[in-house]
Amino acid sequence: MANIICAHVDKAYGAVNVIRDFNLEIEDHEFVVFLGPSGCGKSTLLRMIAGLEEISGGEVSIAGRTVNDLEPRDRGVAMVFQNYALYPHMTIYDNIAFGLRRMKVEASEIDRRIKTVAATLGLEPYLARKPTELSGGQQQRVAIARAMIKTPRVFLFDEPLSNLDAKLRNHMRVEIARLHQSLKTTTIYVTHDQLEAMTLADRIVLMKGGAIEQVGTPAEIYERPRTLFVAGFIGTPNMNFLDVTARSDGETWLLEGDGQRFRVGRARFAIEDGQALTLGIRPSSLSVAASPEDRENTLCGLADLIEFHGDNALVSFRVGDREIGALVPATGQPARGAAVAFSASEDNLHLFDRTTGLSVLRHRS
Ligand SMILES: Nc1ncnc2c1ncn2[C@@H]1O[C@H](COP(=O)(O)OP(=O)(O)O)[C@@H](O)[C@H]1O
Ligand SMILES: [Mg+2]
Repeated sequence: MANIICAHVDKAYGAVNVIRDFNLEIEDHEFVVFLGPSGCGKSTLLRMIAGLEEISGGEVSIAGRTVNDLEPRDRGVAMVFQNYALYPHMTIYDNIAFGLRRMKVEASEIDRRIKTVAATLGLEPYLARKPTELSGGQQQRVAIARAMIKTPRVFLFDEPLSNLDAKLRNHMRVEIARLHQSLKTTTIYVTHDQLEAMTLADRIVLMKGGAIEQVGTPAEIYERPRTLFVAGFIGTPNMNFLDVTARSDGETWLLEGDGQRFRVGRARFAIEDGQALTLGIRPSSLSVAASPEDRENTLCGLADLIEFHGDNALVSFRVGDREIGALVPATGQPARGAAVAFSASEDNLHLFDRTTGLSVLRHRS
């Protein structure tokens, strides 16, 4: 088993820096997800850790040993890709055995390991088949088996479920979570899908433009996004935003913009008089206002779109040039065109400096 340390890791292609001063310590047994939009550098980082890409600067160590100059096969890692690329002319058994045969592992040992891995992944009935005789999910399971059988110290997954349809993706996500619960192998999992990240990760590393925006547990990142970017990236439906200006009013701050007005205590946020802020409220944090005539901490408008989600409905309305969404119980959904008012409690308000994009929430000890 192994921990992983990235210290001041850089990657440049010619003059272009795609990873800048990346620092992270991953604990033994941990399941860490690299999350971020396409092109932010997730695969590049993973490939540097795997040894498939040269490290331009800094150091990567696995289980206490610097691996910068080690060949991929000497790093104790196994990688699973989006394109599982099985050998089409070989049986599933031979596909799984392939790597070990190349490593000159004895046939009886290979057979023993294949039996164990196939049992873990439910592949026993398919060992004699060819890849084309398997579904996409089963093929991806074979790719995982091929990685597992090397008994790596570290699993690296690069968007392994992106080629599967939504239902299969959910199913495989649960399988990967179960697998990690039983094997406990240190894992880095790359995805651009925030739901996958939220459901799988012990910790999420949220990246943007080759640098870390925030590292934290899914709950920490959801509840206390450090930047406007994180707030907008995490959570479905997306967080609502409203531009406001802060004004001191006795023991409280008044936040005003687009005809809306919020009042917050001084304890929670570090704000300056006149500061330009962006207020964030999740659609699920809005509830139908008990007294709509009381305009404070309430968003008002005309419901212009109602999306039925089953138990809930997403009500959309305009405030200034912003589209606001409120997630309400479907039983209490308003009619289209009706005047609506939704309030949010202060605990559910997020505030960011509009210039820096940084949260102005005070640190809690
Ligand atoms: N071989 C390469 N040469 C030049 N630029 C590259 C190369 N590979 C990746 N990049 C650039 O590095 C950045 C990060 O890419 P990548 O790690 O694949 O992002 P992600 O996996 O997050 O989508 C992108 O801007 C991409 O264009
Ligand atoms: Mg990628």
